[in-house]
Amino acid sequence: MNEYPGLCVELYDLLHPSPSKEELKFYLGYAKKAGGAVLEPMCGSGRFLIPLMVHGLDVSGFDTSEVMLKACRRKARRQGLSPDLKKAGIERFRYDRKFTMIFIPAGSFCFLLEDAAVHRALKRLYDHLDQQGVLLLEIETTRIKVKSINKRQEARFDRQEGPGRFLTRMTADYDQQANIWRSSMEISVLIDGRAVQTEKAVFSLRLYDPMAFHGILKERGFKSIKIKKRYSYDEPAKSNEVVIFECRR
Ligand SMILES: C[S@@+](CC[C@H](N)C(=O)[O-])C[C@H]1O[C@@H](n2cnc3c(N)ncnc32)[C@H](O)[C@@H]1O
Repeated sequence: MNEYPGLCVELYDLLHPSPSKEELKFYLGYAKKAGGAVLEPMCGSGRFLIPLMVHGLDVSGFDTSEVMLKACRRKARRQGLSPDLKKAGIERFRYDRKFTMIFIPAGSFCFLLEDAAVHRALKRLYDHLDQQGVLLLEIETTRIKVKSINKRQEARFDRQEGPGRFLTRMTADYDQQANIWRSSMEISVLIDGRAVQTEKAVFSLRLYDPMAFHGILKERGFKSIKIKKRYSYDEPAKSNEVVIFECRR
């Protein structure tokens, strides 16, 4: 579950090649203000990590997916960069230094489903944060209107890195008790209309009530916790489905 097989990584990079201007400006602004080493847990194929390095920042990253890390190294090499990357899970990662900014964009933190995993991860993040540092977590909230539930959705995309086209089929369901949104995907490569390769993947996301997540952060020892509208320094509106938590020790 929540594993990215090869075709999935290729499709992810095709659909999300780079951060938007607002996203990059937001995280760059924080990183420059923090003024030291940056860590991106769950960095994937480097959509954020590489542009931050291009702007001269000292960024380290880790991810559980070897395929994602390989894609990240390949993309970084094209820019003449060799990032400090390692394969690690967010519940157990360890560095022998602290970071002035740690950030997890794109709602990836919501991949952690169990309370114990969430608490272990937050402890690791807290322990690796410099005393003056800032942790930024982009969180998907229960305000999200999951429109795709139980509908089978199909889409086709031209491939960039190989022959043929992608065909994706997706169904989703939502467990209202546990606030877990689960999507099952099947990705095929079509050549002359015939599927020559198919992969399946299941992604589950835990959605949060913002005040409940605020309570979890407080329990984990964070002293200053602010909830921001995505990519702005303002407070979120009630309608904002995704918010960013700015946390300090
Ligand atoms: C949606 S991708 C986002 C990647 C990147 N931040 C971006 O915005 O493009 C989520 C990433 O989290 C990684 N991941 C999932 N569970 C993880 C865990 N427990 N520890 C570390 N990485 C994890 C996945 O392998 C994947 O690369």
